[in-house]
Amino acid sequence: MKAVGQLRESMRKDRQWSFMYSLLDVELDLSLGVILYLEGVSVSFDGFKAIDNLSFYVNAGELRCVIGPNGAGKTTMMDIITGKTRPDTGSAYFGRTIDLLRLSEPEIAALGIGRKFQKPTVFEHHSVFENLELAMAGDKRVFPTLFARLTGEQRDRIHEVLGIIGLQGQTQRAAGALSHGQKQWLEIGMLLMQDPHLLLVDEPVAGMTHQEMDRTAELLLSLEGRHSVVVVEHDMDFVRSIAKRVTVLHQGSVLAEGSMDEVQNDPRVVEVYLGE
Ligand SMILES: Nc1ncnc2c1ncn2[C@@H]1O[C@H](COP(=O)(O)OP(=O)(O)O)[C@@H](O)[C@H]1O
Ligand SMILES: [Mg+2]
Repeated sequence: MKAVGQLRESMRKDRQWSFMYSLLDVELDLSLGVILYLEGVSVSFDGFKAIDNLSFYVNAGELRCVIGPNGAGKTTMMDIITGKTRPDTGSAYFGRTIDLLRLSEPEIAALGIGRKFQKPTVFEHHSVFENLELAMAGDKRVFPTLFARLTGEQRDRIHEVLGIIGLQGQTQRAAGALSHGQKQWLEIGMLLMQDPHLLLVDEPVAGMTHQEMDRTAELLLSLEGRHSVVVVEHDMDFVRSIAKRVTVLHQGSVLAEGSMDEVQNDPRVVEVYLGE
């Protein structure tokens, strides 16, 4: 039955369809230096406004942290960016020209928006190396890749990603035997194999040891520049360790934005967090 579970996993829509990356011959227009534009976005669930006239912009290559109390709408915002939830009003653009609201979830993934959920979903019975191989961009049909010969370039990319995620010493280990932190890094590595333009990471350090958190901070910081990264996280010490620009969400819209010091000293932010 495990094989069935793995098969089902490998058919996950975002991975199965990511070969469309090359088919969707659309140009990501970064001419204003902005990779993501959310404007006036609202969404209600049973009359409750989870996202309320939200405007949020991310620059190309930037590492952005998003904080905010439980229920502020952080995960829902990611659901809107990735096409999992459709807003009632507002617009969402990837670069200047790609209207995300007209695309399906797999199409959005294929355009290079990768998402890391909280729970790692690696192929437990495959080695670390094979996990990266399976996730690789290029020929995206999962099974052939396992048996095909890798090109030198593909092998180099796998080794590059192994270096980024710090698992060079674990290449032949079964992913299922890794620690919780190592699995999280492996999953980030799997996303990196597809070379996403934008990476969304929801609560990456939940359940990690302090050492693992430090390593995760290094990892995320190392992505800055080549990728745009949005990190949602509750752990304030962790956010402080990676923060450049921080957005505080509250009741579905932006309460404050700025450096960690600026937002922490903002009386509206203090009030929201004291009230939690
Ligand atoms: N699919 C859904 N159906 C109904 N309510 C939802 C749904 N998704 C989120 N919500 C509600 O929207 C609000 C924002 O949730 P969420 O985006 O998960 O917040 P956060 O990630 O900041 O903690 C919460 O009140 C939550 O209960
Ligand atoms: Mg959440």
